Amino acid sequence: MHHNSAEYWEKRWQDGQTGWDLGTVNPVLAAELQHPNLLHPTQPDQHILVPGCGSGYEVEMLAKAGWYVTAVDIASEPLRRLEDRLSLEASDIQQRVRVMQEDILSFPKVFDNAFHAVWEYTCYCALPPAFRDVYAQTIKRVVKPGGNVFFLFFPIGTLSQEGPPFAVEEQRDIQRFTHLGFSTSLQSHQSSHPARAKREKFLILQKQ
Ligand SMILES: C[S@@+](CC[C@H](N)C(=O)[O-])C[C@H]1O[C@@H](n2cnc3c(N)ncnc32)[C@H](O)[C@@H]1O
Repeated sequence: MHHNSAEYWEKRWQDGQTGWDLGTVNPVLAAELQHPNLLHPTQPDQHILVPGCGSGYEVEMLAKAGWYVTAVDIASEPLRRLEDRLSLEASDIQQRVRVMQEDILSFPKVFDNAFHAVWEYTCYCALPPAFRDVYAQTIKRVVKPGGNVFFLFFPIGTLSQEGPPFAVEEQRDIQRFTHLGFSTSLQSHQSSHPARAKREKFLILQKQ
């Protein structure tokens, strides 16, 4: 079954082959949101995209931080779980979240330049590497000029055809975005999940 098909991911979700799922909000995002920084919206009506959101624990947290959140996954099962949790949230949080079952690689053109920011965690490494250019171009297409992509680079390593996850190569994958006109800053993060810290870095891309 093709790794970039809805069937493949639906089956993984239904079979419980979801070893990446931390069961809670990513600790780097939780730590970042405790401080005033770029991860907070600067205006009341700003939109953030979460591609390949999976169970989407970050989605509620971003909505509570004041974002309008668009949560996208190719599979329906994780979105059902996200919607179940959302139904327990206050209505103002629910109203800030849009849940969409879509292939991010063919995300509708109506969203071109729609987002002030993107939160990317382990969607990139889930895609077959041959799709990385299309993914980067899609992210460029949907982010507004000046918008930021908050990208937790994981798992950093040497790319092979074994996956998912497919390893992220620091230099090569950053260049993929700089070639598209993004500026970048990369740092290790002291709040990385202990099991992932050695293979994870926090990258902020800005669309020029
Ligand atoms: C490794 S999981 C990460 C989920 C979540 N970001 C997390 O950290 O727990 C990758 C997710 O991306 C979804 N996915 C894979 N290919 C996709 C695509 N082309 N478009 C949208 N979602 C996709 C999968 O269904 C899966 O939920």
